[in-house]
Amino acid sequence: MYVLGIETSCDETGVAIYETQAGLVAEALYSQAADHARYGGVVPELASRDHIRKLTPLIKQTLDKANLDFKDLDAIGYTAGPGLVGALLVGAALGRSLAWSLNIPCVTVHHMEAHLLAALLVDDQKPQFPFLGLLVSGGHTLLVHAKALGEYEILGDTLDDAVGEAFDKTAKVLGLGYPGGAVLSKLAEQSDASTYKFPRPMTNRPGLDFSFSGLKTHALNTWEASDKSDVAKANVACAFQIAAVETLAIKCRRALQQTGLSQLVVAGGVSANQLLRQRLQQLAEKEQAEVFFPPLAYCSDNGAMVAFAAHEKLQRGATLDALTLPVKARWPLGE
Ligand code: KG4
Ligand code: ZN
Repeated sequence: MYVLGIETSCDETGVAIYETQAGLVAEALYSQAADHARYGGVVPELASRDHIRKLTPLIKQTLDKANLDFKDLDAIGYTAGPGLVGALLVGAALGRSLAWSLNIPCVTVHHMEAHLLAALLVDDQKPQFPFLGLLVSGGHTLLVHAKALGEYEILGDTLDDAVGEAFDKTAKVLGLGYPGGAVLSKLAEQSDASTYKFPRPMTNRPGLDFSFSGLKTHALNTWEASDKSDVAKANVACAFQIAAVETLAIKCRRALQQTGLSQLVVAGGVSANQLLRQRLQQLAEKEQAEVFFPPLAYCSDNGAMVAFAAHEKLQRGATLDALTLPVKARWPLGE
């Protein structure tokens, strides 16, 4: 079964084809990040327009790479939310119309579920349900009990900024451009980690929720009070990164202990962070658990995770019959 996956929830146009036996057969990705950088964040209308320009050529390119024709496709899956509604509608409209014209099924994919399942896109050493999921992206910070495909219980959520958002906002304060998570992390490597110690928000009270907006403000205030040298910049980046990673690690340990789960799956853009990977690996060893990350290429938004999630849903009989274009800007995982 050949499944075409379409991702257009934010500023990446992602397309991929997943086949039951062969796995991922082809993919294409276009990032608009450079176009939004000058505005310091994603401009929704520009994102939608660019998806319109890029999506059709990327689908053709992906089919060519796979040596396939439209008529070889057996199903289509598109990201229906959460995300920017105009951007989502581009993928929805094209995915649904294409499926209708080819007379094949079309399914909706939850963006965060796709991120989570990206960790299963590897041949060896995959996690098995049930597992604990830590979803860390530009829009979400979630701890979920993943019981089975499509069955997720939210254990913890952020009360304000997502962790990726806090990385990006701190990077912006430090003049590192947008999106700044990866750049900030690189800069932090050059620093002396002991200069500043930032707070680990909400870790000294019970529960699994997060709050990253105070940490971002703490970084801003520390930067404003510094001599604004390159050394100070690296030190702020480093202290911020350590505090963010440590906060995530503390909550992961608590969630593993509370649930008794022994596998931790970390996904979303921030799961590319090397310090987070090291720290959670260490934690897993201590807790006698196993930790899984998607391959680096599938941590941030991409079409492969959508094609795979759609394939898994279809294998379990999911279909979308009504000729509507369901998209949801807000869509809690598990609903
Ligand atoms: O999953 P994603 O590509 O898009 C959303 O669904 O939001 O995540 C993007 C987020 C951005 O905030 C970006 O700065 C962050 O992931 N990110 C990182 C790293 N790479 C990407 N944050 C920290 N360290 C990284 N290495
Ligand atoms: Zn994402």
